[in-house]
Amino acid sequence: MNRKDFISRVGLFCASTLVAPTVLHASNEQGESKDADKKIRVGIIGCGSVSGVYLPHLTKSPYAEVVSLCDIKPERAERRAKTYNVQNFYPNIEAMLAGVPFDLLVNLTDMQEHGKLNRQALMAKKYVWSEKPMANTYSEGRELHDLAIRLGVRIWGAPAVVNSPQFAYMSQQIQTKKLGRVSSAHAHYGHEGPNWSAFFYEKDGGSLPDLGVYNIATMTGLLGPAKSLVAMVNVVTPTRNVSDKGHIQVIAEDNAMIIMEHQNNVLSHIQSGFNYFDPYGHAGTGQDRPTISMWGTEGNMHLIGYDWAPFGVDIATKDNEKTRREVTDSKGYVWQEGAATICEYLATGKEPLINAEHALHVLEIMEAARLSQIEGKRIQLKSSFRWPVIT
Ligand SMILES: NC(=O)c1ccc[n+]([C@@H]2O[C@H](COP(=O)([O-])OP(=O)(O)OC[C@H]3O[C@@H](n4cnc5c(N)ncnc54)[C@H](O)[C@@H]3O)[C@@H](O)[C@H]2O)c1
Repeated sequence: MNRKDFISRVGLFCASTLVAPTVLHASNEQGESKDADKKIRVGIIGCGSVSGVYLPHLTKSPYAEVVSLCDIKPERAERRAKTYNVQNFYPNIEAMLAGVPFDLLVNLTDMQEHGKLNRQALMAKKYVWSEKPMANTYSEGRELHDLAIRLGVRIWGAPAVVNSPQFAYMSQQIQTKKLGRVSSAHAHYGHEGPNWSAFFYEKDGGSLPDLGVYNIATMTGLLGPAKSLVAMVNVVTPTRNVSDKGHIQVIAEDNAMIIMEHQNNVLSHIQSGFNYFDPYGHAGTGQDRPTISMWGTEGNMHLIGYDWAPFGVDIATKDNEKTRREVTDSKGYVWQEGAATICEYLATGKEPLINAEHALHVLEIMEAARLSQIEGKRIQLKSSFRWPVIT
C-alpha cells in the first residue's frame, strides 16, 4: 500500500469516528471566561504523511487553533497551509519559533529529528506533543522531560492507545480479576513497510519505534511496567526502494521480538516488523482477528484490530465460557487524538491518561531490546510509571 492509499483509508476511518468533546471553559488572566481563550495555539512541524491525518482532526478540535506550519521542504508546509487554511508557514524551526506565537509544538517530523527539535521548542518554553519516539534514547528523553519541568512547560509522546475504550475495558477486566491471575500475553503489529521516506529504515528508525511502540505501550499499560526483557531484532530485507531517496540500505531492525517480565511473574511477548503481509493493509480496517491476547487462570481476552484502531474485545471467562464480543463502539477514539487531548488538558486542566513517564518507559524498552540483541543477554529496566492507568 502506498502513502496516498493509506492516508485516504485511515482518513476516512478517522473522519467517520470523530466525536467532538462537549465541555470547556477556560478563563483569561482576569478570570473572564470567553470563547477565544479556549483555544490552544498550535504549531505543527513536519508536513508529510501523518500531518494529513492530524490536521483534519486538530482543526476540528474546540481546544486547538493551528496557527503555524513548518517543514524543511517548504512547499509541503505551504500546501497544507492552503488546504487547512493556516495563515503562517515556515521553512525551519528557527523561523517558526521566531514567527507567530504559539503554545504547543506538535512534532510530526522524521523520528531522528524528534529529540533535537523537541529540545529547541522546550528551550523556547513551548509545550510539546511529539510523535513517537519523543526522543532518540531514553537518557535524551529523560533529559527533555526534566528540562520541560524546569522551564515550567511539559512534553508528552505518542502513542495515545491508553485513550481507547477497549483499553479501558481490558484494564478494568484485569484490575477487577475477571481473568483470575493473568500470567501471559502476546501482541503483534506489522505491515510491508512504508515506501515514502528512508528514515524508517535508517539508524534510529526501525519497526520498533514505528510499530512495536504501540504494542509496548498497550502491554505495559495493561500489565504494568516491565522489570526486564530479552529480545532479538534483525534486518530481513537489506535494501528497499523509497520515494525520497530511491534504493537504500536498511540499517534499523525490520524484524523484532521482545519478551518482557512484568511484576508478579507476568510475561508478555510483542513482535513487530516491516515484512508482514496483511490483507487488511496498514490500517487493519475490517479485520476480525485479535492482535493482542492475554490469558489468566479464569479467563482470556483478545483485542480485535490493532490497539491504535481497535474494533472490540473478545472475552471468555470460567463463569461464561462462550466467547463474547464487547466494546465494539470506539466512542470517537482515534489514534491521532493525542495532540488534541493535550490541547484539552492545557485549555481545561483535565489531566490526560497519556503520561510522559509511560512514554519514557516504552522508549527504554525499545532501546533495551536492541541492547539485548547486541549483548545476547537479559536487560534490567530502571524506569517506571504510574500504574494502573485505569482501574
Ligand atoms: N505516516 C503515518 O501513517 C504515521 C502514523 C503514525 C505516526 N507516524 C509518525 O509520524 C512521524 C512522521 O512520519 P511521516 O510518515 O509523516 O513521515 P514523512 O516523511 O511523510 O513526513 C515527515 C516530514 O517531516 C519533515 N521534516 C524532517 N525533518 C524536519 C525538520 N528538521 N524540520 C522541519 N521539517 C522536517 C520532512 O520534510 C517531511 O515532510 C514519524 O515519527 C512517524 O513514526 C506516522
